[in-house]
Amino acid sequence: MAPQVQNKPAPGEIELRTPDIEDLEALVGLENKSFTTDKLSRRSFRHWLTNAKCNFLVAERDGQLLGYGLVLLQQGTRLARLYSLAVDPAARGLGLGERMLLQLEELAVESKRLFMRLEVEEGNRRAIDLYEKLGYKQFGEIPDYYENHSRALRMQKCIRRINAAQISHPCLWYQQTTDFTCGPAALLMSIASQSPGFKPSQEQELDIWRQATTIFMTTGHGGCHPIGLALAAQDMGFEAEVVVNNEAPLFLDGVRSQDKKKIVSLVDRQFRDKAQSRQIPVKIEQLELQHIRSWLAGGYTVMVLISTYRFEGRKAPHWVMVTGMDELCMYVHDSDIGEHMQDALDCQHVPIALADFSKMASYGANKMRTAVAIRRR
Ligand SMILES: CC(C)(COP(=O)(O)OP(=O)(O)OC[C@H]1O[C@@H](n2cnc3c(N)ncnc32)[C@H](O)[C@@H]1OP(=O)(O)O)[C@@H](O)C(=O)NCCC(=O)NCCS
Repeated sequence: MAPQVQNKPAPGEIELRTPDIEDLEALVGLENKSFTTDKLSRRSFRHWLTNAKCNFLVAERDGQLLGYGLVLLQQGTRLARLYSLAVDPAARGLGLGERMLLQLEELAVESKRLFMRLEVEEGNRRAIDLYEKLGYKQFGEIPDYYENHSRALRMQKCIRRINAAQISHPCLWYQQTTDFTCGPAALLMSIASQSPGFKPSQEQELDIWRQATTIFMTTGHGGCHPIGLALAAQDMGFEAEVVVNNEAPLFLDGVRSQDKKKIVSLVDRQFRDKAQSRQIPVKIEQLELQHIRSWLAGGYTVMVLISTYRFEGRKAPHWVMVTGMDELCMYVHDSDIGEHMQDALDCQHVPIALADFSKMASYGANKMRTAVAIRRR
């Protein structure tokens, strides 16, 4: 069962606690008062009351159950799912729904989950207001989801927050101004993290892109080569190091025509030659978490190339800046407010589970992994 929540309530005080099988009847009663369709059955409650893969909370006052919340812990994922939340009609509007949900989020973080997801009926204004107030954002919808055929909104919140002590540098966030300038945006954030008062601009963003671009990458404009970013950083007064697990030209898989492949290869050669003549260390080895840890410990700021597949289901190479690490996660600033990220806060200190790092920081058929670290000279 989930971690126990213990409070010693004073008379009249509302206590949050983990329910047990003795609460079954009261839970069924509460369910009937709270929902007209899609009710949890007695059998489901019995199941979840005795199941370890959930966090279950009830709110009680003077022996009377006033509300419950149930979160399922999906195995093999970083997700928790708010399966149900209900407050007795007589106790609504007292802040109980909010209190239970916040407590359930904390329990989910203790259960090593990074994101809380939920479905809510599109007309359920009270519930939607509550979720929005607590920072949930809609990321999808499911037509004909409920028994009454209404649509469900899918909402999500990042519940794991970086501890201030784990932040490696002051971390300004900058929003990239084009689709193809995640690399320059990551570099500008990295420079800002080492240069108090530095303000990134679009001019600098485009300048860096012109210096570091691979010219072509998948369709459209090229993104940035790790060595290109390192060279740009050196020009701006930083020492830079690159780790890449491949000696073959980078991003070659992404382009189809032979002409484009030739150009991408030539640009890769030029970057490697320049790195050599300007004494920028380019280590050809497998990028591991240990590289990032020791760079952070040495006062470097680190940019990692990730595949956005795990964020958005679309495979694209994407540069992010590492803002810190703890025992479970690496945190990154992502300069792209994508379709599912709706505001700047969603893109700051985004957690990536360390256990997922090798899949996340690996791009394309040849599993390219690369990172650039910079430190003020
Ligand atoms: C949704 C529900 C759990 C909210 O519980 P609650 O204890 O009444 O909510 P709270 O008192 O914590 O209110 C928190 C926020 O919810 C929203 N809210 C609460 N009552 C509301 C109302 N009458 N109208 C609109 N919004 C309301 C507000 O945003 C409120 O914040 P505020 O007080 O700062 O304005 C409760 O209404 C309920 O049980 N509904 C039936 C079951 C249900 O629909 N569950 C959700 C399934 S997805």
